Amino acid sequence: MAPGAHVLIAGNWKMFKGPAEAAEFCSALRERVGDIPSIGIAVYPPFVSLAAALEALAPSPIRVGAQNVHWESEGGFTGEVSASMLVEIGVTTAIVGHSERRQLFGESDGDVARRAAAALEGSLDVIACVGETEEERERGETEAVLRRQVESLVEVVGDPGDALVVAYEPVWAIGTGRTATPELAQGAHAFIKEMWPGVDVLYGGSVKPENAEELLAQPDVDGALVGGASLEIESFTAICETAARTRS
Ligand code: PGA
Repeated sequence: MAPGAHVLIAGNWKMFKGPAEAAEFCSALRERVGDIPSIGIAVYPPFVSLAAALEALAPSPIRVGAQNVHWESEGGFTGEVSASMLVEIGVTTAIVGHSERRQLFGESDGDVARRAAAALEGSLDVIACVGETEEERERGETEAVLRRQVESLVEVVGDPGDALVVAYEPVWAIGTGRTATPELAQGAHAFIKEMWPGVDVLYGGSVKPENAEELLAQPDVDGALVGGASLEIESFTAICETAARTRS
């Protein structure tokens, strides 16, 4: 989170927006919300659009991050990018462990923890994602899954201070339009903070302007990781403005 910020709104663009579209979006974002001092704002474009986003946002406090990072600094890892390479172009933060990486690309808890540790060691801030699938929730395993995912991170990264935030993203709420109720999100966030005292926890999963206020009003919801609604300037800026109103 940016120094002094009370809440973080992060936009995960997934595999959307090439460099031209990223530059156009980021220029508009800087105009619209580049001077809200009380909240942290970050966007996570695809790798090829990072440089364009950085250029369009400088100089502004809005940060640019990568959607993943490898645990080695270089080597035979086709398709991967290291922390030092990201830092070289001016990136300051990265997401690790997004459920799409875990589910579609087979990343394990161990992989995610190693990615987080390497990012931190390379001076990147980290958003580490956790969350249960629908089947796991139905089987009553939500807490066990969160415990396993969070413990594997804690074991490897220890006490990263403000450099790492967790994002609780129930998999059944991602891209589905089904949001966790504010109470359910609050319960999961409190559970994560019990296991990892001092950590900030973002909520993710179908966050949009219509539900941002009630989610951000929960005491243990420290921000949002926004997918679909971060791709449109109107919805993303509306969520940022709601955060500034609700939490500053
Ligand atoms: P969504 O995605 O907001 O489109 O549900 C959230 C995420 O995947 O981080």
